[in-house]
Amino acid sequence: MAYPLEFRRASRGFHVRRGFLDLRGMTLHAVEGVSLHVEKGETLGLVGESGCGKSTLARMGAGLLKPSSGEVLIDGADLSSFTPRERARRMQMVFQDPFSSLNPRMSVGASVAEPLRMTRPELSTSSLRDKVRSLLEKVELRPEQAGLFPHEFSGGQRQRIAVARALVADPSLVICDEPVSALDASVQAQVLNLLRDMQDERGLSYLFISHDLGVVGFMSRRIAVMYLGRVVELASREELFRHPAHPYSKALLASVPGRGGHPLSGEMPSPFEPPRGCAFHPRCPFVRDLCRECMPEERDLGGRRVRCHYPL
Ligand SMILES: Nc1ncnc2c1ncn2[C@@H]1O[C@H](COP(=O)(O)OP(=O)(O)OP(=O)(O)O)[C@@H](O)[C@H]1O
Ligand SMILES: [Mg+2]
Repeated sequence: MAYPLEFRRASRGFHVRRGFLDLRGMTLHAVEGVSLHVEKGETLGLVGESGCGKSTLARMGAGLLKPSSGEVLIDGADLSSFTPRERARRMQMVFQDPFSSLNPRMSVGASVAEPLRMTRPELSTSSLRDKVRSLLEKVELRPEQAGLFPHEFSGGQRQRIAVARALVADPSLVICDEPVSALDASVQAQVLNLLRDMQDERGLSYLFISHDLGVVGFMSRRIAVMYLGRVVELASREELFRHPAHPYSKALLASVPGRGGHPLSGEMPSPFEPPRGCAFHPRCPFVRDLCRECMPEERDLGGRRVRCHYPL
């Protein structure tokens, strides 16, 4: 089965030096053995704390970083076999900070036109302009604003422009990496609703990333929970919200407004020195001896996947 996006045991390490005197350096395992796929027309949510590897996975999915091991497939074919143009035709990305999606020195119209110029070089200037204008209208900006520059817009408007840019060349997949995290709550809803409307209209598939489980829950059909480079639970939104099976998912849920429970305590361990056994054990309220010794394998619990010795 060919999916718009699939990771097969994808890992990515970074060779880093921890300090001035660290001559040999070491490998930081940002993503470890992640297998996930995005189905056609669905939103797969990815949630986890800062530093757990979400952006690294997103960048591998978009072809901006090569996996150290494992595979990334687009429509069933290895991502590295696509030319940049073929890749851009199939997928685009929306980043957290619109300044990294939009060049501050380029007019908004030119930025939005860029993916089209790349994927459809045969288009005339006037049809390029028409397409850009109609996309700007879709994201509720005025076509004449195409001549303005990113700093002349609010954060929410800039993020809507980034969405227009991602959609202008009609991709089938969009990777959204914290697309609303820099926005006020009132403006977040606007951008999220825009993304949902565009999905309904175009049958788009999304990989949607946020550290906020409330936001991920609003957007996603299935949700992958990530901890220290690994997926620790994968379930439908309903199952995850009704009955989280991993203690980490349960703790993340407690931070969603309107839900009770014990929120997370402590900090995520350093990826330089991951704990022995289950990476979550030092923070887990249900920890037992086995968890301190042995890394749990991923198991299938009737349609959901959980990496825990004692799922809830
Ligand atoms: N280019 C790099 N070189 C070295 N280390 C990196 C690099 N990129 C990411 N890392 C490290 O990899 C780990 C995962 O980072 P990543 O940015 O993927 O996390 P994240 O979940 O997106 O976090 P955030 O919520 O803060 O965006 C972190 O420990 C980070 O410091
Ligand atoms: Mg990130």
